[in-house]
Amino acid sequence: MAILAIRIYPDPVLRVNCRPVTEFDARLKKLAADMVETMHAAPGVGLAAPQVGVELRLAVVDVSVGEDPSQVRVLVNPEVVEHSGGLESEVEGCLSLPGISDKVERPLFVTVRAQDLEAHPFELRAEGYYARAISHEIDHLDGILFTDHLRGLRRERARRQLKKLADELQVRA
Ligand code: NI
Repeated sequence: MAILAIRIYPDPVLRVNCRPVTEFDARLKKLAADMVETMHAAPGVGLAAPQVGVELRLAVVDVSVGEDPSQVRVLVNPEVVEHSGGLESEVEGCLSLPGISDKVERPLFVTVRAQDLEAHPFELRAEGYYARAISHEIDHLDGILFTDHLRGLRRERARRQLKKLADELQVRA
């Protein structure tokens, strides 16, 4: 396994509408394993393939951040098929947007349909923080960042912070 480089805003790969996974081969398994290791090392509760420069509909989630191996979920071609329970507002961050965090409204419950690494379809019902993490990662597969959900003054603040992040990257380059 290997720890992969995490792409940072404004890397254009973060805005790509990723394509479905069609090859359930050894390369996909290796990528998923590397993404889990990268997520744990970061540390983070989720990671989507575009965040490591791969334009595929693949995400990994572990709300235990490596504490409980049974919590690791690999989601291939995931889609939200139902959300319910109203909206909840909690603070979110993103490994690709270092130093930026804000409250984002997400559904309290989501039902997700996905495939595992053997291409077997499954459904998953998640609640609260787990539902939030999954929704955040699925957004990444459509090129959506959590700051896109902010409105009003929060959106303005995020816009300034994102510009700063982009300017800093130029200085480093
Ligand atoms: Ni993220």
